[in-house]
Amino acid sequence: MMSYRLIRPLLFRLPPERAHELALRLLRGIQHTSIEEFLHRRYDVSDRRLHVDAFGCHFENPIGVAAGLDKNACVPNALGALGFGHVEVGGITSQPQAGNPQPRLFRLPSDRALINRMGFNNEGAVAAGERLRSLPHRRIPIGINLGKSKAAPAEDAPGDYRRAYEAVADVGDYFVVNVSSPNTPGLRELQERAMLDAIIAELRSAGAAPLLIKVSPDLDLGAVDDVLAVIAEHDLEGIIAVNTTIVRPSQLTHPNQHESGGLSGAPLTGRAIKVVRHVAAHTDRPIIGVGGVDGPDAAYRLIRSGASLVQLYTALVYEGPSLVRRINKGLLDRLERDGFDSISEARGVDIED
Ligand SMILES: Cc1cc2nc3c(=O)[nH]c(=O)nc-3n(C[C@H](O)[C@H](O)[C@H](O)COP(=O)(O)O)c2cc1C
Repeated sequence: MMSYRLIRPLLFRLPPERAHELALRLLRGIQHTSIEEFLHRRYDVSDRRLHVDAFGCHFENPIGVAAGLDKNACVPNALGALGFGHVEVGGITSQPQAGNPQPRLFRLPSDRALINRMGFNNEGAVAAGERLRSLPHRRIPIGINLGKSKAAPAEDAPGDYRRAYEAVADVGDYFVVNVSSPNTPGLRELQERAMLDAIIAELRSAGAAPLLIKVSPDLDLGAVDDVLAVIAEHDLEGIIAVNTTIVRPSQLTHPNQHESGGLSGAPLTGRAIKVVRHVAAHTDRPIIGVGGVDGPDAAYRLIRSGASLVQLYTALVYEGPSLVRRINKGLLDRLERDGFDSISEARGVDIED
């Protein structure tokens, strides 16, 4: 938006979580009003070359909202009006939970990054389900990111994920098992093969589909292969790479780098591309690439590395809502430049092992 450059310094004077709440409140205020229609006309890039069909869903463009931005499924249609082609709401848990004590979200402006240790603060799966059920219409496909309740012990993880899923089973276009957030103690150990296998078996027996697993950028590539084995075994529909990282790359300059939690944004791009490329070399299933996408170049690189769809969160904080249109337009320019007729033609042309 013309004015984001003016608004941003004001937003950045607020603590990050307050700024986030304010942005959500604004989006909620305009959702299902004529302003939403106005924004849609302004931001939407409608072009068949951007269409993507993956795991039984149709997407008008490949750029989606990553999990964590709309944790309680409050503004999916308003996000669609900003030009996104899908939104992943959540992470939701089977029970409402408060998350970690504040402050728990930090900006690193000089690194174009964020660090968060939110800890799955959310109103619970039942509330999210009711909210999605009451939508008058759906502008874009809605994925649902499922997390584990902090109170559930590891041995109850399959049952806990199942309870969260059952509360939203009828309202998600796809579902994601999130076993990769660094802010719930022990969660990332659930990526280990036997535990993951038990969780996926439970969700499949409850009918969860399309079902994707979201992985951490901190897994070594051998551990990623174990996740791929579980995906193949249960014939899952896809994979999302990657979540936030607990690694602090040496290029970081901002003092907030010493906060604990998951790092997102520009410093993650290289790792996201590497993991997506590795996954694409080892499976034909659709991949959603996420991590540090801040413009058309990063989005296009993820697609060329094998991603069918791309998501972003952190760059929206730094670039504002016009980012999505800029990426979609930029993707069209790059397709034309390289002689591709569609996103799917460009997908995976850079895969190598
Ligand atoms: C504040 C915040 C909260 C997040 N919450 C979740 C979550 O609940 N579930 C999840 O799978 N990922 C969550 N993420 C990770 C994002 O979905 C994404 O994988 C990550 O931020 C990398 O993308 P980005 O660099 O575009 O932000 C969160 C990220 C941020 C910044």
